[in-house]
Order: sequence, then structure tokens, then C-alpha cells
Amino acid sequence: MFIEQIEQRLSVRTYQNRPLNHEDQIKINQILNQNKNCIGPFGSSIHPFFVAENTDKEQEKIGTYGFIKNAPSFFGATTKNSKNELIDFGYIFEKVILELTQHNFGTVWLGGTFHRSQFSHYISNDLFIPAISPVGYEDNKSITEKMIRIAAKSDRRKKISEFVFVNHFFNTYLENDLNLNKIFRYVQLAPSASNKQPWRFLVEGNQIHLYLERTPKYAEKLPFDIQYLDMGIAIYHLECSMKDLKTKYEIKVLNNPYTHHPLEYIISFVLHEGFIS
Ligand SMILES: Cc1cc2nc3c(=O)[nH]c(=O)nc-3n(C[C@H](O)[C@H](O)[C@H](O)COP(=O)(O)O)c2cc1C
Repeated sequence: MFIEQIEQRLSVRTYQNRPLNHEDQIKINQILNQNKNCIGPFGSSIHPFFVAENTDKEQEKIGTYGFIKNAPSFFGATTKNSKNELIDFGYIFEKVILELTQHNFGTVWLGGTFHRSQFSHYISNDLFIPAISPVGYEDNKSITEKMIRIAAKSDRRKKISEFVFVNHFFNTYLENDLNLNKIFRYVQLAPSASNKQPWRFLVEGNQIHLYLERTPKYAEKLPFDIQYLDMGIAIYHLECSMKDLKTKYEIKVLNNPYTHHPLEYIISFVLHEGFIS
């Protein structure tokens, strides 16, 4: 069940001070290689890389401004800096993160707090690195990590009724709608940059439309639109819920989606069997 991976995953910023053993390095490489062939909802793939042994010097540089402690290894991936590719990146990278979680590796999405230039040798042509993650064995949280979690309000998630709307955006669903609660629990637990949770859903009959409610003035200094990654992550989590709940669906980009300023339409899920409320 995907829900188990989703409930198990939490950002890990403090690692045991020991390298990954050989078998685990092979396992991680396998997961990355398998996901090279994965195609996101907009048709693009990502190009992963693995820094298996993080030398002290490199660690300090990659070192993520002191936010990450003792990470033995890192992985990341490249893609193009455009909307569809970023959404696909979010989707595939989250799939990798959840697969690593299932094997009890600690990870954390890093889209802001790492030195991009340190990875320039992995970049070719018009590609760049939206995010990396340390990977290793989780240790007890350091004080710094506890403070980061408090600052990002990481343990607080929006109520489902704050990001899911039925028929139009003025209408939240009834909080005791078990069907919707079950489906959107998967998205509620998704990671997002600074835990902004910018996903919004409009449920209409057998369709679920995903929108981005951009956080004003957020991450303006980054060289890319980080909240598109959150959209890809949300799509992957919604798919996990469809699979666990054995609901058949198609993913489609509608030609004339309902618009609601300032939300940006992203994509729709069309469920085969009638359901929803
Ligand atoms: C796209 C993205 C980028 C992120 N970038 C960073 C980062 O640069 N530094 C960091 O410490 N955490 C980063 N995070 C982790 C979030 O802060 C974290 O997912 C959120 O606070 C929720 O906590 P949780 O992952 O433990 O559920 C990022 C998460 C996502 C999804």
C-alpha cells in the first residue's frame, strides 16, 4: 500500500555518522536507474545522479548551509527549467523519495538550501538541477532540525476542507465526506517547499482538477518556480491514492478548464467509475 510509504516519510535532516554500506549503495542506484525510464504526467523524464561517497570537503560545500547533519551521500537529478518539466520532476523525484522511504532510507527534498554550483559537472546543455536530497540512515533530530521544523510549521497540515472544494471554489466539502477524506489524506501528507501546501482541488462529478495557489512573494530569488515541483508531488500522491483505492482514472489536461483567479490550472483526473460525493 502506498499510504504506508506516505505516512512513513518525513524530512530527515540529521543522519547517523556512518557511510552507506555497499548493498545499500547498490539498492539506491537501482532505484535511481529504474526511475530514469519513468515518464511524468507531461511526458518528460529526469536524469538522476548519485554522489555515493560524500567526502568531508564536498559535504561542507554541498553542506546545505549547515541545515543537514552527517549526510553520507546525496542524489539529485537534472531537467529543463520549464513548467511541464518541473511538474514532471516533482512527480518522479517524489516517487524515488517514497521508494527510498520504503527501504528505510532517510531523505529530504532540498530545492533551496544547497549550493547548486557544486553540482555543475552533472549539468549538460540546457538542463539544471531543481532539487537534490541527502540519503542515509536517520538519527535523532538535532536541535537545528527541530528549529527548522518549527519555523516551517512542518508538522502542521492544512485541513482537507481548506484545499478541496466541490463544484466551485466557494464551496468546501462536508468534513465528514469519507470518500473525499480517504482520497485527499494522501495529498495532505505530501511534502511541499516550506510546507506551503499550495495545491487546491476542485471536485466536479467524476473529475478532480488540480490548481496552484502560488504563495505571494515566495522564493523569488530562486532561479526557477519551485511550487511547480509541489504540483508534481501532489499528482503523484493523488495517483497513489487512486491505486490504493483501486479506482481507475485517466490524467488529462483540459482545453477549457474552469478558471479562478489567481489560481493556475494544472491538470485533471477523470475517474472511470462514478464516485465522488
Ligand atoms: C520542492 C521542495 C523543496 C524543499 N526545499 C527544502 C530546502 O531547501 N531545505 C529544507 O530544509 N527543506 C526543504 N524542503 C522540505 C520541506 O520543508 C518539508 O517537506 C515540509 O516542511 C514538510 O515537512 P515533512 O517533509 O517532514 O512532512 C523542501 C520540500 C519540497 C517539497
